[in-house]
Amino acid sequence: ATTEHVTEKPSPAFGFRLLTQDGNARRSEIVTPRGVIRTPAFMPVGTVATVKALYPEQVRDAGADILLGNTYHLMLRPGAERVAKLGGLHKFMRWEKPILTDSGGFQVMSLGKIRKITEEGVAFQSHIDGSRHMLSPERSIEIQCLLGSDIQMQFDECIELPAERKEVERAMELSLRWAERSKRAFEMQLASGGAGPGQALFAIVQGGTDVELRRRSAEALVGMDFPGYAVGGLAVGEGHEAMIATLGETLPHLPAGKPRYLMGVGTPLDLIESVRLGVDMFDCVMPTRNGRHGYAFTWNGPVNMRNAKHAEDPSPLDALSSCPAAREYSRAYIHHLIKSGEYLGAMILSWVNTVFYQDLMAAMRSAIDDGRFDAWAAETKARITAAPT
Ligand code: GUN
Repeated sequence: ATTEHVTEKPSPAFGFRLLTQDGNARRSEIVTPRGVIRTPAFMPVGTVATVKALYPEQVRDAGADILLGNTYHLMLRPGAERVAKLGGLHKFMRWEKPILTDSGGFQVMSLGKIRKITEEGVAFQSHIDGSRHMLSPERSIEIQCLLGSDIQMQFDECIELPAERKEVERAMELSLRWAERSKRAFEMQLASGGAGPGQALFAIVQGGTDVELRRRSAEALVGMDFPGYAVGGLAVGEGHEAMIATLGETLPHLPAGKPRYLMGVGTPLDLIESVRLGVDMFDCVMPTRNGRHGYAFTWNGPVNMRNAKHAEDPSPLDALSSCPAAREYSRAYIHHLIKSGEYLGAMILSWVNTVFYQDLMAAMRSAIDDGRFDAWAAETKARITAAPT
C-alpha cells in the first residue's frame, strides 16, 4: 500500500471454470481471492455502498456471491479517495465477498446534468449538488482501484434506444477506443500495485440492436483479450423481444471460456431467457427498487402489495419462499406497512425479492447441472409470469 491509501489488494489470480453446459446455458465458477462466484449469478445492486434496506448479512445469507457498486455515485459521495483511506469499499460497507463496480459510463448519462462528451471523456455536473466533475477511462479505472473493486468495468458510452444507426455506431466506436484506454490504465495499476492479479477488468459490447455493429464491437473487444465480456446497451428502450434477439446474435461472438455479463437486466423472465442463451452474470435494481415500491416477486407470480384486496388477508406472501419474511408476515400486515410508507415494509419486500432472485439463480444452476434446463424453464416461466395480483 502507498502511504496515502490502504485499500487491500487481493493477490491470487482471477480465474474462470466452465463446469457444465445444457444447450447454451452454462454452469461455471468465477474464482477470485475474495471467493468463488457460482454462475449463473445475480448481483444485487449496492449503488452507494449499501444494498438498499438490507444488511450485508441478509444479502450474503440470501445466497449472493457478489454485489455491484457504482463508480459514479461513490466518486461523488463519499468520494473514492475517502473510501480508499478507510480501507476500501469491502471494509467500508462490511461486505467481504467480491464486488463488481460499474464504470460510471451508464450512470453519468442517466443521472448527470449538463454532460459534455468528448474523446477525452465526459464532463458533467453532480445530480447531488451541481458540482463539476470529469470521468475518463483513466479516472474511472483509478476510482475502481481506489474502491478495491474485484471486477472492474471499462468506461463506455451507453445510449438510449431508439437512436439513429450513425449515432449508435459513433458511441460503439468511441467505447472501443475507451476500452483500449481502460485496459492500458488497468495494466498501469497492476504494474504500480494499485491493483492485484486477483482483480479483473471486463469489456462492454455496445452497438444497439444492430447485428452488424454488435459483431464489430464484440470482435474488436475479443481481439483486445479481456478476462470477461459484458453486453451493455440493452434494456434501454428496445423492448424484451429485441433485447433477446440482439443478445442471441451477440453471444456467439464471445469466447466460451470467459464470463459473460448482461448489464442492468432484468425481470425473472429476462433472466431465464438470457441464461438459456448463455449469459453467466446479471445485475438489476428491480428486486430492491420494486420492493421499496410495494411490489413482490413470488413463485406464483408478481404481487402488488398496495392493492386493497390484501388489506384483510391473513395468508403469507409466498409460502414457497425460503425467506422467513415471505412465509411469516401476513399480506395484511405488509399491505399496511407499505400503505403507511413504513421503513419495515420496504425492508421486508427488499428481502423477499432479493431472496427470490437468488433462489431463482440457484434453481437455474440446479436445472443446468441436471441437464433439464429447458423443461425447468418452460414450467417456471408459466408459473412466475402469471398476471400481477
Ligand atoms: N448498465 C446497464 N447497461 C450498461 C451499459 O451499457 N454500460 C455500463 N457501463 N453500464 C450499464
